[in-house]
Amino acid sequence: MLTKKMERAFNEQINAELYSAYVYLSMGAHFENQNFEGFAKWMQAQAQEEVGHAMRIYGYVNSRSGRVVLSKIDGPKTDWTSCLDAFSDALAHERAITGKIYDLVDMANKEKDHASHQFLMWFVAEQVEEEESVGRIVDKLKLVGDSPSALFILDRELGSRSTE
Ligand SMILES: [Fe+2]
Ligand SMILES: [Fe+2]
Repeated sequence: MLTKKMERAFNEQINAELYSAYVYLSMGAHFENQNFEGFAKWMQAQAQEEVGHAMRIYGYVNSRSGRVVLSKIDGPKTDWTSCLDAFSDALAHERAITGKIYDLVDMANKEKDHASHQFLMWFVAEQVEEEESVGRIVDKLKLVGDSPSALFILDRELGSRSTE
């Protein structure tokens, strides 16, 4: 069974993952509005992944006889000055989420909750992937600069992301 402390922390992480989905949906809406359909699609797929992360924790809390309690989700930012601005925000956001996952791991270790430690290792690996994929896009956008034709190509490339 989960300790109350771990239960509360996992519930907060469910909120953080759903907030992540909000952030990406908001970025997706921004890109739709700017006619960057590929970037929009990438963001929408990313949002779905974040809902998947929330559901993974939701299932875990239930399986440990914990009680899932949902809380209010903050409204995300709605506008960005450029594609690079949005993806840089996404990278900063993923790094902050990694920090939260690490805090959870530290807490699980302190509480001698080995099952939660094991569960969280999936998220540790996932965050490496998340930071890498967003980081690569940020690097490409830095190379591209303001070139409309290069942005057009990158938009098309990112639009080919499949929705898992
Ligand atoms: Fe996530
Ligand atoms: Fe993420």
